[in-house]
Amino acid sequence: MTKRILSCMQPTNRLHLGNYLGALRNWVKLQDEGQGDSKNECLYGVVDLHAITVKYDPVQLKQATREIAAAYIAAGVDPKKSHIFVQSAVSAHAQLNWLFTATTPLGWLNRMTQFKEKAGKKKDQASLGLYAYPVLMAADILTYKATHVPVGDDQKQHLELARDIANSFNVHFCDGEEFFPLPEPVITGPATRVMSLRDGTQKMSKSAESDMSRINLTDDADTIAQKIRKAKTDAHSVPANEKEGEGRAEAMNLIGIYAALNDQSQEAVMAEFGGKQFSELKNALSDLAVAKLSPITSRMSELMADTAEIDKILAAGNEKANELAQPIYQDTLDIMGFWA
Ligand code: TYM
Repeated sequence: MTKRILSCMQPTNRLHLGNYLGALRNWVKLQDEGQGDSKNECLYGVVDLHAITVKYDPVQLKQATREIAAAYIAAGVDPKKSHIFVQSAVSAHAQLNWLFTATTPLGWLNRMTQFKEKAGKKKDQASLGLYAYPVLMAADILTYKATHVPVGDDQKQHLELARDIANSFNVHFCDGEEFFPLPEPVITGPATRVMSLRDGTQKMSKSAESDMSRINLTDDADTIAQKIRKAKTDAHSVPANEKEGEGRAEAMNLIGIYAALNDQSQEAVMAEFGGKQFSELKNALSDLAVAKLSPITSRMSELMADTAEIDKILAAGNEKANELAQPIYQDTLDIMGFWA
């Protein structure tokens, strides 16, 4: 059976190594999986409606959306194999979002940990959209009846909610028959959770204050080398096995990044660098990161120099996405008793 793969990123700030290793790299692999009739059908979106749930600049949003699309293409997502689209250009996302918002219990959203992290102490000032964000994410997925969703580890809870929403719809409106498939999370590889370079207890994030905490896909070679050199480690040598790595989040993070970039297991990296000084691992990691990321960075700048080309790719992707989403939305309206 054809798998319908869907995943998305927000156009808030620049993409970083975590986005690349945790998600984007897997997207590229998935577009080549399957043969003939069972070839994967891949949809990759830039979710600009999600981006406005925090403070944002309307003047820059369109360009930020293009930049994310450019990063997808530069990293290897091929518009001939995958549909790259913009969320706001496919109205079914927002429409389905309302249908789910109106029927999802508040208790399900109260459990979401990411809202608590993002809103912090200023909960009353956070937007309603930030709170309801995972429902829109469920709509993104179910709009296409996607079967598989490749994401980083931090999206696990949101995917569980999407499955609960799909299941509840099937039970309540379809007598338990499957209208929406329950989407499977695809969380794979040695770097499903890349941590901050400054604090191994925090994930690498677009919104962390210090730019030294992350490697952006737009960083040049010197910046990458400097960030890795300054990455936090500990007073011991590089761990040689899992046991030696216990409780050493920063060390294990560098090992995980190295393993992911070099397509190796963490064990193999520890066998090579175990017992050596961190400076050795850091030097090798700098070279590796520059070698792997600089082709992406330069392809991104080439693409951004000709935005007409990106706009053309997005227009084609939007058209295809609308074509797939509309009938599903119409059926949903009909099932729920609307004038479809
Ligand atoms: P976003 O934009 O925060 O992140 C995009 C993708 O990158 C992954 N990721 C990471 N992976 C490993 N280590 C990290 N430090 C790291 N940081 C981010 C995320 O898991 C994600 O896969 N809610 C989503 C966007 C979204 C979505 C969707 C995803 C909206 N609708 C529908 C899938 C399907 C988000 O904010 O991702």
